[in-house]
Amino acid sequence: MKALVLSGGKGTRLRPLTHTLPKQLLPVAGKPILHFVMEQIKDAGINDVGVVISPETGDSIRKNLEENPWQHNFTFIKQEVPLGLAHAVKVSREFLQDDPFLMYLGDNLIGGSIRSFVENFEKENLDATILLKKVADPREFGVAVVDQDGKVTRLVEKPKEPPSNLALVGVYIFNSAIHSVISDLRPSWRGELEITDAIQSLVGMNAKVKAQVLEKWWLDTGKKDDILEANRVVLDEFTYREVKGQVDESSTISGRVFIDSGAVIENSIVRGPSVIGKGVVIKNSYIGPFSSIANECHIENSSMECSVLLEKSRLIDVKGLDESLIGKNSLVTENRAIKKSIKMMVGDDAIIEL
Ligand code: DAU
Repeated sequence: MKALVLSGGKGTRLRPLTHTLPKQLLPVAGKPILHFVMEQIKDAGINDVGVVISPETGDSIRKNLEENPWQHNFTFIKQEVPLGLAHAVKVSREFLQDDPFLMYLGDNLIGGSIRSFVENFEKENLDATILLKKVADPREFGVAVVDQDGKVTRLVEKPKEPPSNLALVGVYIFNSAIHSVISDLRPSWRGELEITDAIQSLVGMNAKVKAQVLEKWWLDTGKKDDILEANRVVLDEFTYREVKGQVDESSTISGRVFIDSGAVIENSIVRGPSVIGKGVVIKNSYIGPFSSIANECHIENSSMECSVLLEKSRLIDVKGLDESLIGKNSLVTENRAIKKSIKMMVGDDAIIEL
């Protein structure tokens, strides 16, 4: 089996952050989302991985995967225009050949393993299988109807009146039957070739299409609040305590805090679960639970919690930063004594004076 990871698209919902960083590379708990995807693919025993990239962000995705600790055989496939998930499969035809493949949307995070999902597909000799999750409001997703045996009977993309509360998580497995239905597909109302429509065509042809409902969490990281939620869930589940950097005697590190090499903590309190990246400097500050601080950030005379700081951003004299997402190279600083919590979404290279 091969894997196809979709890392193209435009990421408009997370602008301005995604002007300079593809959303698949946004860090959650100190690690790009795409790396969680690659780990899960490895865990499922798959090594041949096609990565669909866009002309705008393809180079940074490629560079980011260069280290390749998963030892995947990567093939990068350029999709010139993001014309839909089924279109991404179409442009990957040469890589996929007629092999079965696991398709994974590069901005989705799920808890647990996908091994049993892959095993079921093989054991039951299915044409397609989809992963579903019960959600409160399915209208912004693909939605499926499933019978008692797990057989999919109907699918619809972003319905105004959802026929069930089961949303399509961005993880699918197909055999080569998907290619012929994609070649007959027409663009949807949003002008995209929808994979949901392609699977509906398979269902209409009486192909064997089954679903598995995910018990653990699923996070679609499309918006700022989703990223913060993903950060909370993942920090809670995966953070372990390890201090590689330097912590002076007047600092207190409590709970599950990961402090990477080259970080320096002086006269500060850090509470877990939190992740502090390489070369970060924290002085006279309080870092509360659920903080993710990327490499080379600088924090001085500040307090923060439940927030994500991307690379090389600086927080100077800021009190009460909460539920915030700060882009790369940004400076947030306070020049008046305002004692209240602040919530914001700040783009890369910004300077904010409060
Ligand atoms: O997140 C789950 C949802 O993902 C499913 O419930 C929907 O059925 C499915 O259509 C998809 O909906 P979105 O509208 O949220 O997909 P989005 O445009 O965000 O694209 C998902 C990923 O695929 C993202 O990493 C970008 C990439 N992509 C997207 C398009 C449209 C491509 O690589 N090429 C594309 O042409």
